[in-house]
Amino acid sequence: MTDTELRVSKIRNGTVIDHVAAGESLHVLTLLDIDGSGGEAVSLGMNVPSQTMGKKDVVKVEDRELSQAELDVLSLIAPDATINIIRDYDVAEKKHVEPPERVSGVIECPNLDCITNAGEPVEPVFDVLSEGVRCAYCETILRDDITDYLRR
Ligand code: CTP
Ligand code: ZN
Repeated sequence: MTDTELRVSKIRNGTVIDHVAAGESLHVLTLLDIDGSGGEAVSLGMNVPSQTMGKKDVVKVEDRELSQAELDVLSLIAPDATINIIRDYDVAEKKHVEPPERVSGVIECPNLDCITNAGEPVEPVFDVLSEGVRCAYCETILRDDITDYLRR
């Protein structure tokens, strides 16, 4: 516990996504497809003080251990996130997100002429590159503007 103050209560069981860039926690929830309708308890810390980052966001999802594949999509917007799996109040696992080769169904292609926007049952698929993501159909590249095209 390096931060001076605990702003969000500890959880008994679940997943803590820590060291999210300040202001990005709502995008984290969007990427994880968590909107509260699943009934899980979710706590957010936004712009809380961090010794290493100045300010950071923290997301705590109770009673759910998110899988590595679910979490890896976060590398698109929170590459430095630390994932803590909590069991009976202890940090049972601490891990990092790894960029997946492709992401499907989480980003919309901005190109209106793309097959994924033609009303056909074609899921948008993006290849993950070091500089951003590229539509697997029309090759449109998204860089810093990925969060503008998250599927809601
Ligand atoms: N945490 C929690 N509930 C628990 C245990 C930990 O919400 N029962 C949260 C802590 O508040 C922290 C994160 O999980 O945000 C990681 O906990 P811990 O490893 O104890 O903190 P640090 O050592 O500060 O983590 P790091 O070294 O990754 O910065
Ligand atoms: Zn496209």
